[in-house]
Amino acid sequence: MVIYFSGTGNSRATALELAERLKTGVTELTGSLLTSPAEHPLLCDGDEPIVWVFPVYSWGIPPVVVNFIRNCRIEGAEKSVHHMTITCGDDAGMTASQWRRLMASRSWKAGSATSVIMPNTYVLMKGFDTDPEALRDKKLEEAPAMTARAAERIAEGKTDDMIVRGKFPRFKSRIIYPWFKRYAMSPKPFHALDSCISCGLCAHRCPMDNINMEDGRPKWGDACALCLRCYHICPAHAVAYGKATDGKGQYLYPSK
Ligand SMILES: Cc1cc2nc3c(=O)[nH]c(=O)nc-3n(C[C@H](O)[C@H](O)[C@H](O)COP(=O)(O)O)c2cc1C
Ligand code: SF4
Ligand code: SF4
Repeated sequence: MVIYFSGTGNSRATALELAERLKTGVTELTGSLLTSPAEHPLLCDGDEPIVWVFPVYSWGIPPVVVNFIRNCRIEGAEKSVHHMTITCGDDAGMTASQWRRLMASRSWKAGSATSVIMPNTYVLMKGFDTDPEALRDKKLEEAPAMTARAAERIAEGKTDDMIVRGKFPRFKSRIIYPWFKRYAMSPKPFHALDSCISCGLCAHRCPMDNINMEDGRPKWGDACALCLRCYHICPAHAVAYGKATDGKGQYLYPSK
């Protein structure tokens, strides 16, 4: 079983590819499954692996995924070997260690951890933007081979890490990740610009059901995963995050 969370489609595409290669089912973490995991038990055939797929957020696991892993009920999970395939724009720091600690806290068996480099989606700070077209296309071209490698590693029952950790991985994951969670994940700066055409797509597609349309304008609540789907999916490029998104690009995994 492949269990995935995805904001802009990179991890979704990776999860679907893994499921096809491993000939297994796929479950998306979205809506009430994500917001109240304990109330929605999942069933897993203990003979097959459980593969966790999600994006890297500030060199760690997205807090909504951490919450899911801590609180979910998966029947048969203790008999399965768990694997992790993460997608990231550049590097993942110590995300694999964090995942292995989480697996241990549930007394689940941890197998392989593999990273797949994909186009970048983070645009909320100075200096961070979507990739230039040529780099985006290169990453999209090279990603399937990395996903195929991840599938092979899972099928072979590997238990090691094949992760692009990048420079200063400990500093990024142990110092910046907790800082980011505390100070840089607020949805408060989200707002719609005058160019909003009131299509409602941002509200309709938010995986946390965190956006309501009021008088034809989106209003953001407090339960945000910071996945940036609302920003990247807007057909009018009308979602802004304070002034941090001024002049920034948009990206969604290309639909086939
Ligand atoms: C809040 C946030 C934080 C991110 N932090 C990192 C990071 O630390 N390292 C990195 O390489 N990419 C980072 N990214 C980029 C994503 O991990 C990457 O683009 C991923 O493939 C997006 O997956 P998705 O399309 O399934 O949401 C971040 C993206 C977001 C939205
Ligand atoms: S997706 Fe964009 S245009 Fe549509 S309602 Fe949301 S902000 Fe407005
Ligand atoms: S409000 Fe936007 S960034 Fe937050 S969870 Fe919903 S789609 Fe993702």
